[in-house]
Amino acid sequence: MGDPVLSNKGLGEIDITEVFSPLLLENKRYKVYYGGRGGGKSVAFAIAILIRCIQEKTQVLCTREFQNSIQDSVHRTFTKWIDIMGVSSHFEIQNNVIKCFNGSVISFQGLKRNITSIKSMEGIDICWCEEAENISAESWEILIPTIRQENSQIWISFNPRREDDPTYEMFVLNPPKDIILRKVCWQDNPFFPNVLDQERLACKERYPNKYRWIWDGECQQGDDDALWKHQDFVRVDGSGSIKEIIERYGIWYIAIGVDPAVSYSERSDSTGIVVAGIGRDNPIYVLADLTIHTEVNEWIHLLHNTYARYGADIILAEKNQGGDLIQNNLKHISRHFKYEGVTASKDKISRANEITFLYEEGLVKHVGELTELEYEMCTYTGGKNEKSPDRLDALVHVLKYLSAKIHRGNVKLIPSKPQDTVGNRMFGKNSVW
Ligand SMILES: Nc1ncnc2c1ncn2[C@@H]1O[C@H](COP(=O)(O)OP(=O)(O)O)[C@@H](O)[C@H]1O
Ligand SMILES: [Mg+2]
Repeated sequence: MGDPVLSNKGLGEIDITEVFSPLLLENKRYKVYYGGRGGGKSVAFAIAILIRCIQEKTQVLCTREFQNSIQDSVHRTFTKWIDIMGVSSHFEIQNNVIKCFNGSVISFQGLKRNITSIKSMEGIDICWCEEAENISAESWEILIPTIRQENSQIWISFNPRREDDPTYEMFVLNPPKDIILRKVCWQDNPFFPNVLDQERLACKERYPNKYRWIWDGECQQGDDDALWKHQDFVRVDGSGSIKEIIERYGIWYIAIGVDPAVSYSERSDSTGIVVAGIGRDNPIYVLADLTIHTEVNEWIHLLHNTYARYGADIILAEKNQGGDLIQNNLKHISRHFKYEGVTASKDKISRANEITFLYEEGLVKHVGELTELEYEMCTYTGGKNEKSPDRLDALVHVLKYLSAKIHRGNVKLIPSKPQDTVGNRMFGKNSVW
């Protein structure tokens, strides 16, 4: 573990570990920190920016690919650490901006939908790109020349996802010269909290492959025997509110697929919850993966809220796997929902196989980031000792139902046109919570 440095400069009991000290002590154009969850990246960046803002007048832009609302940004992280550091007297926290009394300003802006306002920004000294694995090549192209103030710096924090993500390619595989490039993981964080450690250990035991991606900060490895490859997905813009997304794609029918976990323990399955809808001209849009590992009453509530938030038309769940449980429990909360039990008789892999043709024909589009669902689809091979693919099962239920509905209605499925896609990239947020 690194030793804390830069401690106690009259700024409360705050330490930044040595690995992050170049943020404040070195003058480089790019400062890139990447690695697994819990490495202390976000907190160190926030602390370093706050210290710098107090020390000298600094214009900071905090950006990410998508920012549907200020809640998506690191605004909250700053608010929290201003408090912990005991520096509230230096700052004025406003809804969309944080100001320091010496004229420093921290602002927050998503890249994807604000190209023009980003382009016209002047005088940014530090641009923090958070969750930069999502930043597209187009966004980088526009952002980098925008940060043109003398001695300006671009700070980048991210958890790697795939080797061909533009951020990984540009900064890790082919790094520019003027760069601090560090990989940091939980072992490098002397403040790594116990709750995260519990989560880490559970993941290590349950999902050893996923562990290497999430916690060791390695790029995802697909499995050659899996039914999907990353390039099979058509991904479309997932920015904006649920209402905006529904309008954008003309979605007229929405279903929620559920793969219920009837018991809850550290080792039990998660409850797969996947929302999808039929859009204009009948492609199917996978809208959200809200899969959760929690107690029955909690996911029942989540299901109820999801139904209301999406204005869903039906819930589909495996009958023999807690389907009745859903029906009975939901009834207690509301009578206004439609439920249909689905029988899943075949083994999981042939079940999943039944929806591959929909992808082969380009009839399914993924809205926003469905990183974990796609990961499951690209790694599940049906091996005996593999964890049950909860997300994939929920997806199968919902896609089978929706494609059958389209056929029943004698509506022709129209394969997607190439211009409907926005490349092989992830966009937007899958989570609406
Ligand atoms: N300088 C610090 N002081 C105290 N706690 C810290 C510090 N840095 C990180 N932590 C703790 O470690 C956790 C994980 O850090 P975080 O910055 O969120 O990691 P990452 O962004 O790499 O996933 C934080 O939630 C916090 O509890
Ligand atoms: Mg982080």
